[in-house]
Amino acid sequence: MDKQNRKAIIAGNWKMNMTPTEAGHLIDALVPAVQGANCEVVICVPFTDLCVAVAKCSGTNIHVGAENVHFEKSGAFTGEISADMLTDLGVEYVVIGHSERRQYFAETDETVNKRALAALNGGLKPIICVGESLAQREQGVTEELVRMQVKIALNGVTAEQLKNVVIAYEPIWAIGTGKTATADQAQEVCAAIRKVVGELYGEDAAKALTVQYGGSMNAKNAEELLGKPDVDGGLIGGASLKADQFAIIVDAASKG
Ligand code: 13P
Repeated sequence: MDKQNRKAIIAGNWKMNMTPTEAGHLIDALVPAVQGANCEVVICVPFTDLCVAVAKCSGTNIHVGAENVHFEKSGAFTGEISADMLTDLGVEYVVIGHSERRQYFAETDETVNKRALAALNGGLKPIICVGESLAQREQGVTEELVRMQVKIALNGVTAEQLKNVVIAYEPIWAIGTGKTATADQAQEVCAAIRKVVGELYGEDAAKALTVQYGGSMNAKNAEELLGKPDVDGGLIGGASLKADQFAIIVDAASKG
């Protein structure tokens, strides 16, 4: 299976932006802007925006995701949200292991793995984020590090469950900095991710996997990044908060 046969996914990660009222306005603008998309369109929004997002995206081609999920099913975990709570709302995707969670909220490869398993067992599609810091890139350990992050994140994930997994390559130095990885850098690491998944699950599973790039992807650079053979979509931060910008990226992915 080559790129044309894989599912391209453009996902917005709103991070800690948008009140429910603001979310409603943004989705009202997004719905007509992306309705002709020839790729999967997802918005991953703060927990407090999920209700309005699910209601407004119902009957449209926009799928809704959360930005995190706890790994336990229920219980005394004040402030946490379970997979069952999300699926009951109508949420389909969840971002897991974003570098901001790893950096500021003590997420580790092990908790990323636990969350990925909880998401999959609860019926959610995890978008698992991996990526290196600038120091790690300069040290030349990007590929080793990303391979390890992928392996640990997928520990215990079955071949059947892998069909619902998306992996996002997000170099930390490119996030929110305006410093995009070059299309060749993105391609190189996305291909390495596909390779390690092939080692774990076989060629066919690797060829079917959607691998996204994220990190300052915007209306100007999306086409070049998404044109690379192993870059199947994008995880978009800042540019997902503007309907017109996001729609241009969705158009670029629709062209393949
Ligand atoms: P920016 O697009 O704002 O760089 O954020 C990327 C990101 O972290 C998406 O998860």
